Amino acid sequence: MKAAVYYKFQQPIYIQQVQDPEPADNGVVVRVKASGLCLSDWHGWMGHDKDITLPHVPGHELAGTIVEVGKNIKNWSVGQRVTVPFVCGCGKCTPCSGGNQHICDNQFQPGFTAWGSFAEYVAIDYADENLVALPEKLDFVAAASLGCRFITAYRAIKDQGSIKSGQFLAIHGCGGVGLSAIQIGKALGAEVIAIDITDDKCKLAKVLGADHCINARTENVVEAVKTISKGGVHLSIDALGSRETCLNSILNLRKRGKHIQVGLMAGQHQNPPIPMSLIVANELEILGSHGMQAHKYKDMFGLITSAEIDLSTMISSTISLEKVPLLLPKMAEYNASGITVISTF
Ligand SMILES: NC(=O)c1ccc[n+]([C@@H]2O[C@H](COP(=O)([O-])OP(=O)(O)OC[C@H]3O[C@@H](n4cnc5c(N)ncnc54)[C@H](O)[C@@H]3O)[C@@H](O)[C@H]2O)c1
Ligand SMILES: [Zn+2]
Ligand SMILES: [Zn+2]
Repeated sequence: MKAAVYYKFQQPIYIQQVQDPEPADNGVVVRVKASGLCLSDWHGWMGHDKDITLPHVPGHELAGTIVEVGKNIKNWSVGQRVTVPFVCGCGKCTPCSGGNQHICDNQFQPGFTAWGSFAEYVAIDYADENLVALPEKLDFVAAASLGCRFITAYRAIKDQGSIKSGQFLAIHGCGGVGLSAIQIGKALGAEVIAIDITDDKCKLAKVLGADHCINARTENVVEAVKTISKGGVHLSIDALGSRETCLNSILNLRKRGKHIQVGLMAGQHQNPPIPMSLIVANELEILGSHGMQAHKYKDMFGLITSAEIDLSTMISSTISLEKVPLLLPKMAEYNASGITVISTF
């Protein structure tokens, strides 16, 4: 099959013919029809993810069709249209037994613990426990974000954030995670304040439903958020992962407000300075959020339908696999607005 491969971190990526994957006994092989470029793929290429062994094929935000099933697979068959949460739980460990497959002790993550979906085919292990059937009306490109960024934003805001109608929600960074979070926050009744660094990105944030947008390069973010939200927001998400966005997200909270860290903190952004005395004095809550379990998709599809969320509005461009070597290394320059999806392989 054709795949995007790298042999060293931070070094060129090649489009090459590699061995076709085979399904594990508890797995399937999916013909990839769409795969989103997520900033986590860039983190992987930078060498920030200890699970990656070289050479490596990235890609974890996928939708496609099953072409082969392993001998122990009971719930799935060839031809079904599927997606999969990027953290696949084993179904057996303590977190999985408690319904927390997204923090499984034995995670299978396409594009991290194994070769991923920047390829014509991808093998998915623990398939019975983790595959999710795509609704008929949803095309593959629109469905790509359901493998990572939309589901991650859904868990961050609904399950970890417990947002309530009428509350203020700040979202720092309006890329794939942030734009998803805006739509989910609005669907759940929040007043959404989006933050990014260009007017173009603010414009897109507003098209997707943000009530306000602050340009972090021309305004004082914390002051502006506090003014709009009359003293601070109830819930705030770092949807980028940087010292600046993490700190702003904590500082713009009202008393007893909640910060959710979604963006990965790596490289120069590791170990950000956390204002612990403010957290104590104002009884702030600081939580992490990591993907979402397969069994939560049903609820999420319910919200997508009832709020008439159109996933395709976040997608700014579709590209061919051949563009990955050029685009992936430049992702942290934040040139593109919206989500980029590979749709030709
Ligand atoms: N926790 C999880 O399970 C999980 C899942 C998916 C992604 N992630 C992580 O979330 C982060 C976001 O991923 P993405 O694919 O949405 O990224 P993205 O590149 O699509 O979006 C990042 C956005 O942040 C904006 N930005 C840059 N500097 C900013 C600043 N100072 N203030 C406000 N905005 C700023 C950029 O312009 C861009 O629009 C990454 O760290 C990724 O690895 C984590
Ligand atoms: Zn991702
Ligand atoms: Zn497990």
